[in-house]
Amino acid sequence: MQDPRTQGIASTIRVVPNFPKPGIMFQDITTLLVNPKVFKDTIDLFVERYTGKGISAVAGVEARGFIFGPPIALAIGAKFIPLRKPNKLPGEVMSEEYVLEYGADCLQMHVGAVQPGERALVVDDLVATGGTLCAAIALLERAGAEVVECACVIELPELKVSSSDLLDGCMLIPNSI
Ligand code: PRP
Repeated sequence: MQDPRTQGIASTIRVVPNFPKPGIMFQDITTLLVNPKVFKDTIDLFVERYTGKGISAVAGVEARGFIFGPPIALAIGAKFIPLRKPNKLPGEVMSEEYVLEYGADCLQMHVGAVQPGERALVVDDLVATGGTLCAAIALLERAGAEVVECACVIELPELKVSSSDLLDGCMLIPNSI
C-alpha cells in the first residue's frame, strides 16, 4: 500500500507546461520545498527506507539531487558526494557521458570520493529516460562502489523505461500529470 504522505508530496509539485521549451511539462519541486511539512515528509520517507542498510555514501545528481541528497545523507550517517556537470569540480575527476533526447551530457565525480566496496545510494529529483541515473550508477561502479538503489521523488512514466529495466527499486512518487 502506498504511504499516505506520497499524495501530499505529489500534490505540491507544480507542473509548468512549455518550460524551458515548447512541449516540455516541467516538474517544479520548488513548490514542494516551500512547504516545510511536505519537504520533511519527502526526506523522512527516504530516511525510513535507507536507515540501517549499511549505506555509507549518498551521491546527489546536479542540480536538484543536491537539494534532496544532503539531508538524507546526514540523517542516515553517510557522506554526500556531488555528481556534477562538466568542469565544475576542481580536483581529478572521473567522467561518464550519457545521451539526451537531443545531444549528450556528462556527469563527473572526484576521484577518491568513494572507496571500493562502499554501499552507495544515488539521489535525484526525477527520472525520465533514466539516462542520468545510469551515468551516475556507472561512475560509482567504476570507482568500485555498490549502488544499492536510486531514490527519486518523481517519475515520468510515459517517458521512462520501466523501472525494473532500469534498476532494482527506485523509490518513486508518481506525479499527477
Ligand atoms: C533533469 C532531472 C534529472 C534528469 C532526468 O535534470 O533533474 O537529473 O533531467 O532525466 P533523464 O532520466 O531523462 O536522464 P536536467 O538534465 O534538466 O539538469 P538540471 O537539474 O541541471 O537542470
